[in-house]
Amino acid sequence: MILDGKAVSEKRLEILKEEIEESGLYPRLATVIVGEDPASQMYVRMKHRACERVGIGSVGIELPADVTTERVLEAVTRLNNDPDINGILVQLPLPAGVDTTRVIEAVAPDKDVDGFHPYNLGRLFSGTPIFAPCTPQGIMTILDEYKIPTRGKRAVVVGRSIDVGRPMAALLLNADATVTICHSKTENLEDEMRRADILVSAVGKAKFVGPEMVKEGATVIDVGINQDEQGKLSGDVDFEAVKDRAGAITPVPGGVGPMTIATLMENTFRAAKLRTCDNSTVR
Ligand code: GUN
Repeated sequence: MILDGKAVSEKRLEILKEEIEESGLYPRLATVIVGEDPASQMYVRMKHRACERVGIGSVGIELPADVTTERVLEAVTRLNNDPDINGILVQLPLPAGVDTTRVIEAVAPDKDVDGFHPYNLGRLFSGTPIFAPCTPQGIMTILDEYKIPTRGKRAVVVGRSIDVGRPMAALLLNADATVTICHSKTENLEDEMRRADILVSAVGKAKFVGPEMVKEGATVIDVGINQDEQGKLSGDVDFEAVKDRAGAITPVPGGVGPMTIATLMENTFRAAKLRTCDNSTVR
């Protein structure tokens, strides 16, 4: 079974558009981009386009690549204090001269629609999430839409970043999976991976996952976005070699990627609702 993230994201965006319309709210997202990395510029453009589609207002702040950390912090503080802004997204990666941790920690937790602030990651790990990072939350939506069970299942997450690996593990744990996080120092990595009922690869190496690492019938989630010399996109998984062994698999492109943006829109609407209700239990 091919897990069609594009189709799921289209469906979720349509539902969200109706919900926003019915709510009478006008959520607003601010993006901050530093420098001129073409991939980051493209992602931010796609986020603004998605906002327009579902009825979320958006503003974009663009800062030069040689900006100081202080200047980025000023921009974030201004957005924190702007009552017209519900969600703030600082596009990563930031240039080497900017202190990413300080910037992430400067975003007001109630506007942190990326879910990267330690407060939101802490809520997620304590089992009481408000904003979960968009990519792993989007993966949970795919599992849910395709009715792939997680309870009691063995999930293996390869990668331990704060935007994917760690929150993915927390979300799967919250969904009653038995979770292992693997990384570059893991011993006997292939053995760990072969035990997975649900295998999530967020490594960033093209064709890293071959059929010998996949249990027959496993669900394989490919978070990798790797570009070869010709500019062709491929995931972490050798799709052609793995697809007949996996029970379900996400393609690249058209798998996890579109879900990240759809989830960002959902998080931004949630931020607007939370503001209105002033009630942190709103899901
Ligand atoms: N860069 C790559 N993925 C992401 C993401 O989900 N959020 C932000 N802010 N930057 C990213």
